[in-house]
Amino acid sequence: MPSTPASKSFYVTTPIFYVNDAPHIGHAYTEVAADVLARWHRQRGEDSFLLTGTDEHGEKILRTAVGNGSTPQAWADQLVHDSWLPLLDTIDIDNQDFIRTTEERHEKNVQKFLQHLHDTGFIYRGSYEGNYCVGCEEYKTEADLIEGEGEYVGQDVCAIHSRPVERLQETNYFFKLSEFSAPLLDFYEQNPKFIQPESARNEVISFVRRGLEDLSISRSKEKFDWGIDIPWDDSHITYVWFDALLNYITAIGYGEDQANFERLWPASVQVVGKDILRFHAVIWPAMLMAAGLKPAERVFGHGWLLVGGEKMSKSKLTGIAPAQITDTFGSDAFRYYFMKAIAFGQDGSFSWEDLSARYQSELANGFGNLASRVLAMVKRYFDGVVPAPGAYNEADLQVQVVAAKAIANADAAIEEIAIHEAIASVWTLVDELNNYITVTEPWVLAKDEAQRERLASVLYTTLEGLRVLAIALAPVMPKSTAKLWAALTEGSLGELADQPLSESANWGQLAAGVKIGDLDSLFPRIETDDEGK
Ligand code: ME8
Ligand code: MG
Repeated sequence: MPSTPASKSFYVTTPIFYVNDAPHIGHAYTEVAADVLARWHRQRGEDSFLLTGTDEHGEKILRTAVGNGSTPQAWADQLVHDSWLPLLDTIDIDNQDFIRTTEERHEKNVQKFLQHLHDTGFIYRGSYEGNYCVGCEEYKTEADLIEGEGEYVGQDVCAIHSRPVERLQETNYFFKLSEFSAPLLDFYEQNPKFIQPESARNEVISFVRRGLEDLSISRSKEKFDWGIDIPWDDSHITYVWFDALLNYITAIGYGEDQANFERLWPASVQVVGKDILRFHAVIWPAMLMAAGLKPAERVFGHGWLLVGGEKMSKSKLTGIAPAQITDTFGSDAFRYYFMKAIAFGQDGSFSWEDLSARYQSELANGFGNLASRVLAMVKRYFDGVVPAPGAYNEADLQVQVVAAKAIANADAAIEEIAIHEAIASVWTLVDELNNYITVTEPWVLAKDEAQRERLASVLYTTLEGLRVLAIALAPVMPKSTAKLWAALTEGSLGELADQPLSESANWGQLAAGVKIGDLDSLFPRIETDDEGK
């Protein structure tokens, strides 16, 4: 396989999150997925750029801030610094930028975009009456409402937030979204991979087929004023979603750095939760089309982490803080668990039991133990020096075949954004190596001087297998693979980040005679509460 030229860019985004409260594992889930994709593409040799950030305007943030005796700006500053930026360290996100919608680079260019759409006739003044959900920051149709329960019995409530909607009647500015039903349907047809997974695509298409209404994109300052001024009418501010969606282009230079904008846009993948798929698959591409810009290449609407069958939520205070998990299990296990245990695109429930069980069986016993056993045997039988293999037999060659397939299949799965499948593909090599060691019994070979060369071939094969695993698992578990890489190579093969995935399964890269280093347990035993007592 030829390696991809370094100039090819891969631009991946997460939603920008509301700063109404601190992040929970649902937000971390989106971040990790996008980060795994970004790291995978970087490991392929592409110019990979991950953007994340925070959504700080709108009524929800204003109300939360005021309710907490703060101002929206001070509230946002505090949450970003105390919670949202630290999250990125907690779960080991390698983002290239972090955008806040209160930054000047954003506000100024949102106004440019609005002015352009106003000048070209896509925005007009009109009036509207409808049911608004502040939790969603969205007007709701009858179909989006359900009957309330508990204190809201007898009222219609938002199906996502379970709270009553508010009746609003306003004169404000509208975006001619209705003109984009046909262009969007054409676009979906010509770009069958634009919306993923398939179920999400079908839902969006049938939604657009029913016809789109124009979208109110401003709010009168008489109601509240926490937002970006409409450039031609300062008695109005910009609707928070219209402002927020533009972060994906203001962050990369729309309106001021054309070269960088063209380097990265259109985005390769926009990862979002299915709750906000319509904004990204309908409104956002229509906004871009109106401005004469291309929509993103793909939007992936992933499933929800559920609590008691419902979406885990900041508004409902059902969140689990990511650090609660990483403090015990570490960021690698967090990343591995959520990417492997839940099919990407489907809903899933987090459970401590499931996490502990997988940590023990898959990470500690499956992968971690494999690494320590192999390195310990090389220390014991070859003084910690990579042995020179003899002729390979069928079992050795089989390992090489499994490694090559694991990489090719994982790469193909990432292309389809099937992250769980990519990990499962790589894991076929973990299983193969464990099995290979059981069958070849190096500890038996070691007792027989006549089998010295055979022992060398077996241990060399397992070392090479570990080398491939370090590269292929680096996007998912950056910390443990860095440790493994350091022990395996002690610098002899350069940086782990510089190892092209496409060449990773080419056998024989570890040079015989090179010393290996020490390896601490990759996934140490977790002391449970019982043992502490
Ligand atoms: O919607 N399971 O922000 P938000 C999985 N500011 N993912 C979850 C989740 C769960 N239970 N809960 C939240 C907004 N998420 C807007 C976005 S983008 C231009 C503006 C993740 O703070 C998931 O990615 O409500 C979801 O789409 C996002 O957080 C919503 O975050
Ligand atoms: Mg939300």
